[in-house]
Amino acid sequence: MPESSPSFRILGPARLSGEVKVTGAKNSALKLMAASLLAPGTHTLRNVPDIADVHIMSELLVRLGCTVSLNNDVLTIDVPATPGHKAEYDLVRKMRASINVLGPILTRVGIAEISLPGGDAIGSRGLDFHISGLEALGATITFEHGFIIAKVDGRLKGATIDLVFPSVGTTENLMTAAVLAKGTTTINNVAREPDISDLGEYLISMGAKIQGLGTQTLVIEGVDSLKAAEHSTLPDRIVSGTWAFAAVMTGGDITIQGGRADHLELPLDKLVASGAVITSTPDGIRVKMDKRPIAIDVATLPYPGFPTDLQPMAIALNAIADGSAIVTENVFEARFMFVNELKRLGARITVDGHHAAIAGIKQLSGAPVVATDIRAGAGLVLAALVSEGITIVEDGFHIDRGYPNFAEDLRSLGADVTRI
Ligand code: EPU
Repeated sequence: MPESSPSFRILGPARLSGEVKVTGAKNSALKLMAASLLAPGTHTLRNVPDIADVHIMSELLVRLGCTVSLNNDVLTIDVPATPGHKAEYDLVRKMRASINVLGPILTRVGIAEISLPGGDAIGSRGLDFHISGLEALGATITFEHGFIIAKVDGRLKGATIDLVFPSVGTTENLMTAAVLAKGTTTINNVAREPDISDLGEYLISMGAKIQGLGTQTLVIEGVDSLKAAEHSTLPDRIVSGTWAFAAVMTGGDITIQGGRADHLELPLDKLVASGAVITSTPDGIRVKMDKRPIAIDVATLPYPGFPTDLQPMAIALNAIADGSAIVTENVFEARFMFVNELKRLGARITVDGHHAAIAGIKQLSGAPVVATDIRAGAGLVLAALVSEGITIVEDGFHIDRGYPNFAEDLRSLGADVTRI
C-alpha cells in the first residue's frame, strides 16, 4: 500500500444521470506496453488511461532501459536494441501484470528474471500455465531467491500447446513469446477477452504473423524480428460495465461514451433482465432505469461469459434488488473477500464456497468500509451510492489503479463524492 492512500467519501443516496467518457482499457494498455519490448525503436500507444498501474508499468519499462513518456493519453516508448532482463519485487508486487514482460524479454534477450508476484486479495493466482507453456517452447525455468528465471539457448521453438484453462495472462505471455520463436506455435483453448485481440492486432502491426484472433485457437508463425509500431488501446469494457451497473442501481440514466456493447453482451443482457432500458448511441451505450432493479443470478466465466471483474457490481446490485439471487464466482477463488465490507452497509449475503446468496433490501446504510482490490473498491462505491448517509471507502488507491478520475466523473453525474 502507498504511504498515504486516498479514501472516497460518498453521501447517498444518489441518482446518476448524464454523460461519461470511457478511456482505454487498463488490461489492454498494460499488455501493449509490455509487448513493446519485442521491437527496438519508438512505439506510440494512444488512448492510454492515466491510472496508477500505467505508471507502474512505465517505471518497469524504464528500469529495463526504455524511455517512456505519457502526454495526455498518448504514451511513447523508446525501446533500446537490447532491453534489460530483470524485474524486481518492489514493482512486481504492486502489479501482477508485470509478469507480462516475461514472454517478450525471454524471446528477445534469451533470459528473463522476474520476481514472483505472490498471491493477492482475489486468489492465489499461480503461474504454472505460464511456465509449462514457455517450457513447451523450449525455455528452461528455475526459481531462485524469489525470482522466476527463464532461459533459452538461441531462439524459442514453435510448439503445440493445449491450455487447461483459458488464462488471460498465459495466453498473452505465450503469444508474445511465440511471435519471435522459430517455427509455428499453435495454442489451443486460449482466452478470448477483447484485450487479447487488441494485443494481437498490435503485434501484427509490428510484423507478427498471427491467425485466429477472437477464436479458441491461435496459430503463430515466428518471424526473425519485429519493428516498432503505433496502436490505439480499445475502450475499457470493465469501466463501461461499472457505469452501466451504476445507472441501473441508482435508477439513473447514463450515456457511456466510447462504451462497446459488443464487448459486454452478457452483462448488458443481465441488466436488461433486471429492468434496464439499454440503447446504442452514435458513440456508445445509454443505460436507463426507472424502477428498483429485479434480482439477477450471475455466474462468472472467461469471456464471452460474465466477467469476474464485474462480479462485485453484480453483488452490489443484488444487495438492493427486488428478490434474491445467487452469484457464482468461477475464476478467482477468493473474490468474495469484500462481501464482509458490503455487509457493513447492511447487505444480506451468505457465502458458501464460490456461491454468494443475496437477499435484496430496499436501501443500504452508509458506514466506513475498506476496498480490498480494484473491482471490490468500485463495487463498494456503487453500493455507497445507494446507501443512506455517509460511506467512507478506505484504501482508495486500489480504485485509482483502474478508474481514472472516478470521483470527478461521479460528481459530474450528480453524486456527492469527494476524495479525502
Ligand atoms: N491461473 C493458474 N495458473 C496460471 C495462470 C492462471 O492457476 O498459470 C488461474 C488464476 O489463479 C485464476 C484463473 O487461472 O484463478 C484465471 O487467471 P487469468 O490468468 O485468466 O487472469 P490474469 O491474467 O491473472 C487478468 C486480469 C484480471 C481479470 C482476469 C480474468 C490483468 C492485469 N488482469 O488476470 O483483472 O480478472 O484476467 O479476466 O489483465 C482487474 O483488472 O481488476 C483484474 C483482476
